[in-house]
Amino acid sequence: MTNQNQTTYSAANIVNYYEQLQLLQPAEKIILERLRPQLSTMDMLDIGVGGGRTTQHFAPLVKSYVGIDYSAAMIEACKRRFEQSQTRFNFSVGDARNMAEFADNSFDFILFSFNGIDYVDHGDRLKIFQEIKRIGRPNCYVLFSSHNLQVMEKGFQWRTKISFNPLNTYTNLVMLALLKLCNLSITQKKLASSKYLIIRDESHNFRLKTYYIRVQDQVLQLEKSFNNVEVYSWQSGLEIKDNHDRALTADEWLYYFCEIR
Ligand SMILES: C[S@@+](CC[C@H](N)C(=O)[O-])C[C@H]1O[C@@H](n2cnc3c(N)ncnc32)[C@H](O)[C@@H]1O
Repeated sequence: MTNQNQTTYSAANIVNYYEQLQLLQPAEKIILERLRPQLSTMDMLDIGVGGGRTTQHFAPLVKSYVGIDYSAAMIEACKRRFEQSQTRFNFSVGDARNMAEFADNSFDFILFSFNGIDYVDHGDRLKIFQEIKRIGRPNCYVLFSSHNLQVMEKGFQWRTKISFNPLNTYTNLVMLALLKLCNLSITQKKLASSKYLIIRDESHNFRLKTYYIRVQDQVLQLEKSFNNVEVYSWQSGLEIKDNHDRALTADEWLYYFCEIR
């Protein structure tokens, strides 16, 4: 899974796509504002930095900034994009599953944005959380986002594809047929009974294998090693506190904000 995803994230057209992204997502804006008073004292690590979308917003505000990505092409793109700031912003090729290049207790804020953590399998995801815990200082803030399995469960149902516009209905049904073809082993029963699943979704033309998890299961996964786990809608940026709301949210992915214990 990981090699295929890493190859996809190294393809020139995909690197170009991430290189031109500019805006923060609403949940990222909310957290930036919340941390703003402390950012100037913080050593920050931006994992899966991609083309540097988050760099321009966070890096000028923090004490020190390092961006890593397992795609060398993404890191080259960041170096090009921030050529002027290279003395203050650091970029290097690095894999979140093994961040041996960083000593224990190195960072105050660790970001793994826009679902970057979803491109490894379950065992490697747990390794990433362990690595984050090792290199972050006590009370280090951690912010990342991850795909929502609850929404994908509905995405596999043809009833959700029907609309008043026949052209939209046709396009939706073709995409559903492709989704099912790319994920032959995934049945409605499996979707309903799984806490997490690896799914080839339509992003980047079905080239990526992506980890999807239920919100409550992600919270439980985090609560083993992290404190004060909060969940944010990526779309509105609003915190979703109530378990019932978490189970019903229609966000395709959620932001998780927590602190290292
Ligand atoms: C969806 S892109 C997001 C890029 C950027 N953070 C943004 O928000 O625009 C996910 C990024 O995570 C990187 N990535 C995925 N798994 C990784 C891993 N194990 N170690 C480091 N980077 C990884 C990919 O190469 C890709 O650049």
